[in-house]
Amino acid sequence: MLVLGSGVAGLSAAVRLAAPMSPDGAGFGIDSNGLRVGVLTKAELSQSATRWAQGGVAAVLGGDEDSTDLHLADTLAAGAGLCDTDAVRVLVDEGPTRVHELIAMGAVFDRQPGGALALAREGGHSTARVVHAGGAATGVEVERALVDATRGSAAAVLEEWFALDLLVEGGRCRGVRALSAGGRIVEVRATHTVLATGGAGQLFAVTTNPAEATADGLAMALRAGVPVADVEFMQFHPTALHHPAMPRPLLSEALRGHGALLRDARGERFVEELAPRDVVSRAMAERMQEQGVDSLWLDATALPSFDARFPTIAASLRAIGLDPSRDWLPIAPAAHYLSGGVLTDLSGATALAGLWAAGEVACTGVHGANRLASNSLLEGMVFGARLAEAILAGRDGPSPTGVMGAVLAGTAVPVDSGVAAPWTGQGSMDPATDGSTWPDVTKTRDCVQRAMTAGAGVVRSADSLAGAGRVVEAIGAAVGRGTPESRAHGELVNLVTAAGSVLRSATVRCETRGAHARSDHPDPLDRWRCRIVRSGDGVGILDGLGAPEADRSGSTAAGR
Ligand code: SIN
Repeated sequence: MLVLGSGVAGLSAAVRLAAPMSPDGAGFGIDSNGLRVGVLTKAELSQSATRWAQGGVAAVLGGDEDSTDLHLADTLAAGAGLCDTDAVRVLVDEGPTRVHELIAMGAVFDRQPGGALALAREGGHSTARVVHAGGAATGVEVERALVDATRGSAAAVLEEWFALDLLVEGGRCRGVRALSAGGRIVEVRATHTVLATGGAGQLFAVTTNPAEATADGLAMALRAGVPVADVEFMQFHPTALHHPAMPRPLLSEALRGHGALLRDARGERFVEELAPRDVVSRAMAERMQEQGVDSLWLDATALPSFDARFPTIAASLRAIGLDPSRDWLPIAPAAHYLSGGVLTDLSGATALAGLWAAGEVACTGVHGANRLASNSLLEGMVFGARLAEAILAGRDGPSPTGVMGAVLAGTAVPVDSGVAAPWTGQGSMDPATDGSTWPDVTKTRDCVQRAMTAGAGVVRSADSLAGAGRVVEAIGAAVGRGTPESRAHGELVNLVTAAGSVLRSATVRCETRGAHARSDHPDPLDRWRCRIVRSGDGVGILDGLGAPEADRSGSTAAGR
């Protein structure tokens, strides 16, 4: 089995499948069932977006006031009508066990003086249920524990290898074509391949995601024609520090959970601080536009013991001359988390036999139109473990469960791809693409990011999406000419592939729902309570979410 990616989802799968290594190293990479387990990652094993997660892991572990039903209800409310209830039920029911397993593996979470786990509250949660480590350095600790467990297991680790494309033969995935650490193109063959490649924040110029978040798994799936869904729902985190550093330093939502306030340019409060993220980011974007400013304020001056509770955030603020006990902190929304991805069943199986997906690259249906804060590490743990168990149980190929049910039932309504991409054929060359085989990678990546930020940011419209579409199409024509010769080339190709898909789905969805806000369609509409599925160039709209039948092609055309 080959795991692509080394964040919480990939390593949760790998450690389950790889037996502990024997002292003499015999049996390296072979687990007790005869499965050879490998982890292929484009950087070092510990260098994944998981490390950047601050707030924590949401799971029902504490007091009487919480229940998995309440966690389920909060998740469904944040997801704005598009969550798959069965998937959310799996998430909230299995989450606590996975957290306890991680603790048994060595992860150390913050505790109260009496020894009970310390729980924080974040936006969209009706009670405190977020376990955290090092204040707001939870991802660092989760990744450390999983990397240690992986290094001590029988998993073979290929670091600095870059997966280029899925090998698809005889209707199933047989591994990947990859650039080795030494720069050779190599086929890495596997009976089971797990996409755990993380997110796509690098599609945007302003993001909290590390440079590695380049939509690699999503793009490989799209090129192989494997269905993906909900990619129009890029979540923007409201409180990224407004500062030139990239990725943008995150000011965890846990700060608002502890009482920090949002203030506009005049110092006035303007939104409920603990509303779901999409609501807060949208309110901020509107206020910034009204007041003609590019940042607002987070006021944490009244927080007791800021430095003791949030030591890593305090240190990074002080390093740039900000004192959170005295200064209001400049903030603006930044691209943070892609709620959609490669469509899976409840065991992480994709529509292509032999291919599995978990973590941010996947669309399990748990996030719907907007992820609830701190549900992402949890999703990686739960569904990474589930797919490992399914493989060990001999499963091969998808079952009609979760969001996969409607795909296998064939209830997708196709949409004309010309409608989905009204900019087709209008792409104009950008200065960074001079027509040579490989345009300047850094400049071209920057062009894609700037176009996406301008056209597909917190608030979009048909016109803004088309503007971005024209740039991305032109760049796509330029980068599509050569075989990637380096990781940087491959990442650029992936960003362009994913950007086209996000723009098309965002153009099709003519409403405002969750993290997808359209200024030209400002309300949620019942007829759009459905999932947009992309498979290669085709676009399907899936019913099955209780949406009334309606003429969506009419409203799509109106969005042009
Ligand atoms: C945060 O701490 O605000 C980020 C956590 C998350 O994205 O779930």
